[in-house]
Amino acid sequence: MSDRVRIIETALLQRFGVRVKVDESLAGLDELSRIAAHRVHRRFLPRDVDADLLRLLCACALSAPSKSDLQQADILIVRENAKRQSIADLLPEMPWLREAPVFIVFLANGRRLTQLSQMRGKPFPNDHLDLFFNATVDAAIVMTTFIRAAEAAALGCCPISVIRDHAATIAELLKLPSKIVPVAGMCVGWPAEEGSITLRLPLAVTIHEDSFSDSNLAAAIDAYDRRREEVRPYRNQRDPARFGRSNSYGWSEDKARQYAVPLRTDFGAFVRAQGFCLD
Ligand SMILES: Cc1cc2nc3c(=O)[nH]c(=O)nc-3n(C[C@H](O)[C@H](O)[C@H](O)COP(=O)(O)O)c2cc1C
Repeated sequence: MSDRVRIIETALLQRFGVRVKVDESLAGLDELSRIAAHRVHRRFLPRDVDADLLRLLCACALSAPSKSDLQQADILIVRENAKRQSIADLLPEMPWLREAPVFIVFLANGRRLTQLSQMRGKPFPNDHLDLFFNATVDAAIVMTTFIRAAEAAALGCCPISVIRDHAATIAELLKLPSKIVPVAGMCVGWPAEEGSITLRLPLAVTIHEDSFSDSNLAAAIDAYDRRREEVRPYRNQRDPARFGRSNSYGWSEDKARQYAVPLRTDFGAFVRAQGFCLD
């Protein structure tokens, strides 16, 4: 068995708890091994990322597929130190924002298409939810492709959607005009530690064949909670004052507690204020 096959099989076994067969003669095992062994990075070495390398990664990311070739995703590189610090100040609970050598923001751009219509003197009868949705999906694909490119170059990344907790402030800081919204920020740098694989839900829960089914969800989640607890138990329980301390605190308990408080309830208002129609 080649090293790359072993990396892929080991990573996927760890992540999903089942063996996934890998054909040794497959092309692209290098890329598959990086994808399978992906992990988020939040601690970085004090070492710059060369501007040319960053530009290369952005170009690779923007080579991603784009819905109808509409190209509705942009990348904003936050270079100015004062601006970086203002963003980091908004999120003191995430020190990696201050420490990462690079911070960029992926933008959903529904603006350019309306500008094209104006430039070419055409009507624009498509100012509805799909414009926002398409631009957001494009931005998410570009963001994912950026991570793939960065990890291929041995860099580490941490997406930061929490900037959307302060969407209006971020929009003002970055001078985002109408029909542009930040989808996520991204810390990028040379990893200071190896990181670890996060377990995912069983493939039986997230891969469906022919029709959707979640009839065995409760049992599958219980099993997943137990498997995760064996590998990486939660160190802290969320909001014990409200929910008490649970003897078996698994992923599902954590996520249920996380979403038992209102989160980003003003985001729709922000997106509308940025000029998107969500109907
Ligand atoms: C869209 C998106 C937004 C994220 N936002 C944050 C964030 O605001 N802060 C953070 O520390 N990590 C963030 N993450 C990282 C996730 O917490 C991480 O991907 C997840 O725990 C799974 O870990 P893994 O990427 O190592 O598999 C985000 C990831 C994605 C895909």
